Amino acid sequence: MRIIGTGRAHPSKIVTNAMLEQFLDTNDEWIKTRTGIAERRVISSEKLEDLATEAALKAIADAGLTPKDIDYIICSNVVSEYITPGLSCIVQGAIGARCACVDINVACSGFVYALDMADDRIKSGKAQNILVVAAEEPSRMVDWSDRSLCVLFGDGAGAVVVSHGEGMICSRLTTESKTDCLYYVRNLEPTPYITKEEYGAPMYMNGKEVFKTAVLSSSRDIKRLLDKAGLHPADIKYYVLHQANMRIIEAIANWLKLDMSYFPHNVDYCGNTSSASIPLLLDELAKGGKLQKGDKILMSAFGAGFTTGACIIEWTK
Ligand code: ACO
Repeated sequence: MRIIGTGRAHPSKIVTNAMLEQFLDTNDEWIKTRTGIAERRVISSEKLEDLATEAALKAIADAGLTPKDIDYIICSNVVSEYITPGLSCIVQGAIGARCACVDINVACSGFVYALDMADDRIKSGKAQNILVVAAEEPSRMVDWSDRSLCVLFGDGAGAVVVSHGEGMICSRLTTESKTDCLYYVRNLEPTPYITKEEYGAPMYMNGKEVFKTAVLSSSRDIKRLLDKAGLHPADIKYYVLHQANMRIIEAIANWLKLDMSYFPHNVDYCGNTSSASIPLLLDELAKGGKLQKGDKILMSAFGAGFTTGACIIEWTK
């Protein structure tokens, strides 16, 4: 597959660190030093489906297609207002496409998993033009009185359209069932027969454990992919990494012995937007004229599960 169009949508509400200081025992210096985040964009009056639709329509237009040309939609999403139907079904109706749709929940690694699935589907000849949308609202998963979590996240939607071509060089997906360091459990409806204890609560994260696992697993994936592709670290134009924390990105840059110019970022003004972070950044690079035909881009993400997804693509647009 190759990427032929990109799009993104941000919520209108910008929440600065100073705004958080008004109701949390926190400060700009702590947040910036520990995370690199200065502000985040969070959903207020809009709905996640509106952002997903906007990003999708922009990606389709950028690809020079219409929604009728899309023959499969993959939506990466952890939570939205709907448990069912899937966000992909809602987006399909909103953009006026007629095709099969599927949602996947691979936490922050979801966009790379979706690209890998799209690559398989195109290789098998089952689809021509696939819309991949990653739309996330992690701001709705955290307790906004918990300073250790709510400062980290932002919302948004990024989309790409992929079609037949030679853009995917290699990919690597991993899953290691490790459910105790990052989770969000919701209560379901009660029934007359439920006797077990229910324990729905806002998101829980063991930050130090996730930090360590993220740096190690992402570095391992990057090394494996570079070896597989026969590339040196500096052969990659940009490392488009999951935007969870600037310190994680800097640790990976140090490990690769590359300067930060290889590591574009949006975590400083978007916060951690889960699986939307990579396509948001990709669209920003593409629309900002930073990508040239032939550039190699390495994407690497990690998330709850514990899951990781990484791939090297060639920019062919
Ligand atoms: N403002 C001020 N103080 C704070 C805040 C805050 N917002 N949050 C926590 N603190 C305090 C703590 O209470 C603690 O105080 P204490 O020493 O008196 O107990 C102190 O700061 C240190 O807290 P730590 O949790 O040890 O801070 P740490 O340096 O580990 O940084 C952080 C925390 C930023 C969460 C870090 O561990 C991290 O980035 N982890 C990775 C998170 C991540 O990548 N998550 C995403 C992965 S998956 C996904 O994207 C959903």
